[in-house]
Amino acid sequence: MVGAGQLARMTHQAAVDLDVELVVVAGSATEPAVLAGAPHRPGDPRDASALLAAAPGAEVVTFDHELVPGPVLAELEAAGLVLRPGPAALAFAQDKLYARSELAARGYPVPAFAAVSGPSDVEAFAAGHGWPLVLKSRSGGYDGRGVKVLAGPGDLAGFAEGHWGTPGQPAWLVEEHLELAAELAALVARRPSGQALAYPAVRTTQVEGICRHLVVPAGIPPALEREATDLALRIAGEIGAVGICALELFVTTAGRLLVNELALRPHNSGHASIEACATSQFHNHLRAVLDWPLGQTGLVVPAAATVNLITPAGDVDPAANLPAALGVPGASVHLYAKASRPGRKVGHVTALAGTTEAALASAQAAADILLRR
Ligand SMILES: Nc1ncnc2c1ncn2[C@@H]1O[C@H](COP(=O)(O)OP(=O)(O)OP(=O)(O)O)[C@@H](O)[C@H]1O
Ligand SMILES: [Mg+2]
Repeated sequence: MVGAGQLARMTHQAAVDLDVELVVVAGSATEPAVLAGAPHRPGDPRDASALLAAAPGAEVVTFDHELVPGPVLAELEAAGLVLRPGPAALAFAQDKLYARSELAARGYPVPAFAAVSGPSDVEAFAAGHGWPLVLKSRSGGYDGRGVKVLAGPGDLAGFAEGHWGTPGQPAWLVEEHLELAAELAALVARRPSGQALAYPAVRTTQVEGICRHLVVPAGIPPALEREATDLALRIAGEIGAVGICALELFVTTAGRLLVNELALRPHNSGHASIEACATSQFHNHLRAVLDWPLGQTGLVVPAAATVNLITPAGDVDPAANLPAALGVPGASVHLYAKASRPGRKVGHVTALAGTTEAALASAQAAADILLRR
């Protein structure tokens, strides 16, 4: 697995269950998966020779992020490595402009968007769609870091010349700012041989672009739930996704379901599957990339909620608060062994209950204790 963050850490836990020899490629020995005891090799995800050296004899190469550049992926494939997912599917998670364009061309519902190479392109888009608008980095963004809401033309003044990319290679896209009724995530696990199973849709809540918490079931009409999971299954099949494929979806106040973005790896919105589903997303990611039969994805409890532990400003030490947090009934704590820095995701809490409201209250109570100063 290229990458050694919390997703690799939790995949390592699943690998132990299955006695799969999972080696992670880490940028440093203090990354979450390495600290969990995963066998590791050093390597920068942009360095083909380091990745090749890390993977001799690997049956399959998979990823905990989308940071391996396309040309490096091509080099790994040319050297005989089996990449799951492969470069063509990964491209959908690496370049938001490519993903939007390609999905729109295939008839999938996406927000209105355009590639922009400068303020005049944004103003031209605004002429048709009005303000506010959302400016998005084509690549490299996460947790809302590449997303800027533009209230009006005045917000275009602050950007430096080089911000917009180079001619013919726009670095940003602009899209309509939607009135959202809800945000959903639909995850599927898919094997190279085609077997695919959808997880129940999850309802996520973002604050300032970062997912704060989620609940499952999503509490949406069954027809909308079916539409969301069908979209995920169709898209995963069509792009040849292997492993976990996560769709982030917008539900607009007008009732439209639109695809926001794709991830081709275990996803933050799927963490509740560890406790709440028959098979966790991490087990199914391994089973899928190894082309083994998938585990059932259904809920084994009435309701679950996950609260992300996002470090607030000021010093906090979740580990010191752990015993107190574990006193909250029904809450499962996952700490990622990451140093606390304001705005950083350092763990999550999942709680199970009879209703999503009760599950969210328990998970939030434990999270509040963990982040107490
Ligand atoms: N067009 C839009 N209209 C309204 N809100 C939006 C729009 N695009 C993004 N957002 C809000 O910003 C959040 C982050 O956007 P997006 O998922 O595109 O960025 P990201 O930083 O790549 O996220 P991630 O951390 O999931 O990779 C969304 O979950 C949503 O709450
Ligand atoms: Mg997102």
